[in-house]
Amino acid sequence: MAQLWGGRFTKETDQLVYQFNASITFDQKLLLQDIEGSIAHVRMLAKQGVLTKGESDRIEAELKNILAQVRQGELEISNDYEDIHSFVEAVLTQRIGDAGKKLHTGRSRNDQVALDFRMYVRMELAQTDALLKELLETILRIMKLHVETIMPGFTHLQKAQPVTLAHHMGAYFEMFRRDRLRMRDIYERMNYCPLGSGALAGTTYPLDRDDTARALGFYGPTRNSMDGVSDRDYVIEFLAALSTIMMHLSRFSEELILWNSNEYQFIEMDDAYSTGSSIMPQKKNPDIAELVRGKTGRVYGALISILTTMKGIPLAYNKDMQEDKELTFDAIDTAKGCLALFNGMLSTIRFRKEQMRKSAALGFTNATDAADYLVNHGVPFRDAHGIVGKIVLYCLEHHCSIDEMPLDALQAVSPVFEEDIYEAIAMETCVNKRLTIGGPGKEAMEQVIAMEEQYLEESAFPCEDWEKALLA
Ligand code: ARG
Repeated sequence: MAQLWGGRFTKETDQLVYQFNASITFDQKLLLQDIEGSIAHVRMLAKQGVLTKGESDRIEAELKNILAQVRQGELEISNDYEDIHSFVEAVLTQRIGDAGKKLHTGRSRNDQVALDFRMYVRMELAQTDALLKELLETILRIMKLHVETIMPGFTHLQKAQPVTLAHHMGAYFEMFRRDRLRMRDIYERMNYCPLGSGALAGTTYPLDRDDTARALGFYGPTRNSMDGVSDRDYVIEFLAALSTIMMHLSRFSEELILWNSNEYQFIEMDDAYSTGSSIMPQKKNPDIAELVRGKTGRVYGALISILTTMKGIPLAYNKDMQEDKELTFDAIDTAKGCLALFNGMLSTIRFRKEQMRKSAALGFTNATDAADYLVNHGVPFRDAHGIVGKIVLYCLEHHCSIDEMPLDALQAVSPVFEEDIYEAIAMETCVNKRLTIGGPGKEAMEQVIAMEEQYLEESAFPCEDWEKALLA
C-alpha cells in the first residue's frame, strides 16, 4: 500500500512492520471528528486565501459524502490504509483529484490526531455526564420513596446505628454528583483547540486558529504548538474520572450483592438482571452487579497504561502516543455500558423494608441512643457506655433486643432508666432525632432531597450544537 509519506523511502514497508505501525483497526472510531476537523480547516483555508472557495467547497462536499457513505455501509473503511486520516485523504483524492491533495495544507497528522481525539473525548464527556444524570434520577426516586424505611447503617460491616434507605442511597447520590462535576471540570480545562500546531512548530501558512477553534466549539486555540500536539492530560483526567465512577459503581454493586444474599435479604433483584446456575436450581445470581465490580479493573488498567506510556515521552509527538487510543476507547465503552446497565438494575430492584427494619432492630443499632439517654439524665458518657455494654450482654444472653428488655431488668443495671427509655430508643426516634443537615432524620433528609432535585434541574452539560452546525 502506498503511504502518505512514501516519497523519501526506497523499500516497501514489510507487512509485519506495516501492521505493527498501523492504527486503522481502532482509530476508525475517529471518523466523524476527523471529517469535522477537516471541514473547519478547509473553510478557514479558503477564508485566508490559501485555497479557493471552489476548492474548499468541493473538498467539504466530498468529506460529507464520505461520512454519509461510511455510515450507510456503502463505503468500507479498509485496513489497507495506515490510519483513519490516511483513509479519508486517499478516498478524497481518488474522487476529486488534486483539490483533495490540498486538504492537508498547513496541517500535520500530529495536530490532526490531537484534534480528533480531543473532540472524541469531549463528546464522551458529555455522554458520560448524561448517563450519570440518569443514574442520579433513579437514586433520587428511590430516596423519595424511602425517607422512612429504616435499615441498619454499618461500620466495619457490623451494624452500627439505624439510618434510612434514603440516607444510604443519598451517599451514592453525592458520589455520582461529584463524578458529574468532574466531567464538567475536565471539559473546562481541555476545551482548547490544537489544530494549527502543525507537526510541532506551527506553520508558515496564514492560518486563523481562532476561526477553526470557534467553528469546532472550542474556547480558543491552545497556546503552545509543541504542547498542542503532545498533550494527553485530558485523556488521563478522563480515565481517572472514569476509574472513580467505576470505583463508586463497584462499591454500590458490592453492597447490592450482599443485600441480595440469603443472609441479608434486604433486596430482591429483578429476574432480568440475574442469572441462574447450570447445576444448582435454587440459585439466582447477581451477575450484572458482579460484572460491573469486575470490569472496574479494566478501566483502572487503561489509566495506568496511559500514565505509563506518557511518562517517558520527550517533546513533542512520538509514536508511543498512538497507544493512547485502544484502551481509552475500551474504558469509555466499558464505563458507559456499566452505568447504563447498573441504572437499569437499580431501578428494578425490590426493597424488602420489613427485613431491613428487623435487621436494624436486632443489631443493637440503638445502643448509642440508650447511652445518650443516660447522658441526658446526668450520667457521664464513659459510665453510660459501660452500662449499655452490660445491657447488650444481657440481651445476647436472653436473645432479645434492648427495647424488648423489661424495665426492671434495665433498672437492675442502672436505676436511671424510666418508662420513657422505650420511646427514646425506638428506631424511629433514633433516626428522626438526627436532624443536622446530612443526617438521616426525616426532615433533614427531605431538605437535602429538595436541594438535589433543584440541582438536577439546573445542571446541564454545555451543548454540542456546533457538531450539527458543521455538518449541516
Ligand atoms: N495514528 C497516529 C496516532 O494515532 C496518527 C499520527 C501520526 N503521526 C506521525 N507522525 N506518524 O498517533
